Amino acid sequence: MCTGTLASLLQSCEMNEDSLNPDITTFPFDIDLSKPEYSSLAVIGGAVYANNPDGNNGNDIIIIRLEQDRFLTVTSICTHQGCSVNLPSSDKPTLFCPCHFAEFSPLTGEVLVQPKLGTASTLPVFRNEFDKSGNKLTVYLPGNG
Ligand code: FES
Repeated sequence: MCTGTLASLLQSCEMNEDSLNPDITTFPFDIDLSKPEYSSLAVIGGAVYANNPDGNNGNDIIIIRLEQDRFLTVTSICTHQGCSVNLPSSDKPTLFCPCHFAEFSPLTGEVLVQPKLGTASTLPVFRNEFDKSGNKLTVYLPGNG
């Protein structure tokens, strides 16, 4: 629990965060957005699956272009019981899980609709960096483990 003045609060929270997340191992997954398989990301709102077998336990990630220079990168694996979440579509603009009908925000990965039974939590979001001049997106994936 973080209590105290703002300065001490920030300091103690930072320390707590560090101690809770010692060295989370991530590695860069470089994606050339000019390749045909990523063509739907050319427009804002476009979404694709991508995969690097060395990260995210070999599971697909979902990439959504939120703005010209901003992307959401989340796991495709539902936090309820592990089914693959659908990409947003004109019929269903959320990240919809067909197994028990949970829905996640295509902007943040947060739960919008809980599954029919039980609960889901926010889809893990992976940090990314966009190199505009090279049209390259680097997603920092957790390793397999
Ligand atoms: S596995 Fe996704 S809602 Fe159950």
